[in-house]
Amino acid sequence: MNSKVFNRFREIIYDTAGIHLNEKKQALVGARVAKRMRALNIDDHKKYLSYVLEDKSGEEIVQLLDAVSTNVTHFFRENDHFKFLEEQMQKWLESGQRKYRFWSAGCSSGEEPYSIAMTLLQTTNGHKPDIRILATDISTRILSASMAGKYPAKKMENVTPFLRERFFTKEGRSESAVYKVNNAVKQMILFKRLNLSVVPFPMKGPMDCIFCRNVMIYFDNDVRKRLLNEFYRLLKPDGYLMVGHAESLTGMLSGFKCVKPSVYIKK
Ligand SMILES: C[S@@+](CC[C@H](N)C(=O)[O-])C[C@H]1O[C@@H](n2cnc3c(N)ncnc32)[C@H](O)[C@@H]1O
Repeated sequence: MNSKVFNRFREIIYDTAGIHLNEKKQALVGARVAKRMRALNIDDHKKYLSYVLEDKSGEEIVQLLDAVSTNVTHFFRENDHFKFLEEQMQKWLESGQRKYRFWSAGCSSGEEPYSIAMTLLQTTNGHKPDIRILATDISTRILSASMAGKYPAKKMENVTPFLRERFFTKEGRSESAVYKVNNAVKQMILFKRLNLSVVPFPMKGPMDCIFCRNVMIYFDNDVRKRLLNEFYRLLKPDGYLMVGHAESLTGMLSGFKCVKPSVYIKK
């Protein structure tokens, strides 16, 4: 892919998804787009660019975003967030709160919302609060994987045998085994496609806690600021925002107070 074509793809990706790709990503984008081109039998990046631009349905842009988005994730990633959630949930339960709303924004293949759901089910043992978790992503491909909730054994390393037993059904044996998330967990979660770079969002809130981890790293400061304002609007007072450990939001979080690294409270 030459630089001119790459720059045009960059613009399209930024304008539609807020994803900022620097010059160093040219080879990566070229390789990922090539995979999509093979599926369409298109042998030239410039021709594929025209194909994207001429597709009035908008479906090919969705496919392009699917191809370039990075979906790395795992169960209980950055586990201190889940420990924090557990402690907070205990406090909310003791205060008599009955209704809870959570959001996994940029949920990838589902490990994050399922980790939230398992943490909450473990903590609320015996109680029957009204809990709903919204899980959103821009990638339709990855959302289908989320909804299917099926994970090979090698993706289950961070899930304890106790949690596997309680929340998954195992199909097959040893290394070829697949773990299916049980319906009791799945039915707590609503999966939706949502582009985090296009605000305002249709939800009203208020939410108790928003996880938006390892997503804002792909955005520039303009997109981040717009997104943080929406998170602020949607959170209840004293609601929490969790971001990835490597993300720096210094100077952008007016109204939020940092309670510990990568955990913010709406004040
Ligand atoms: C690296 S994964 C993070 C998954 C999970 N939150 C975690 O921390 O493990 C980033 C996810 O953000 C999604 N994403 C990127 N740009 C987005 C946008 N504009 N709107 C919604 N999701 C987006 C990608 O599709 C991808 O699934």
